[in-house]
Amino acid sequence: ITVTFIDVNGQTRVIEDAEPGMSMMQVAKAHDVEGILADCGGACSCATCHVYVGDGWMEKVGPPDDVEEALLDMVDDVRQPNSRLSCQISVSSDLDGIELTVAPDPGY
Ligand code: FES
Repeated sequence: ITVTFIDVNGQTRVIEDAEPGMSMMQVAKAHDVEGILADCGGACSCATCHVYVGDGWMEKVGPPDDVEEALLDMVDDVRQPNSRLSCQISVSSDLDGIELTVAPDPGY
């Protein structure tokens, strides 16, 4: 599965071997995508894996659940309508070709 990350420095990283079942956060960490810190290790409790879902992909990715929603609220300054936590998005063939932009650190 191919996933493109735009890292926090604006650099494009195309990852072609993302394994289905991994989270997008794990893919980013495995390839050292700058700006994905994932402090909580994917437990949906830190919001340092925040990404903006690329144009046209939000429908396939779907909305955040309640727990994720609450976390995204905590980074409201940098939240966008297409914000998701990358640890809560699973790699699947449906998402082949997706683009995810790493959200800036809100600084708190
Ligand atoms: Fe902590 Fe995603 S890694 S919320």
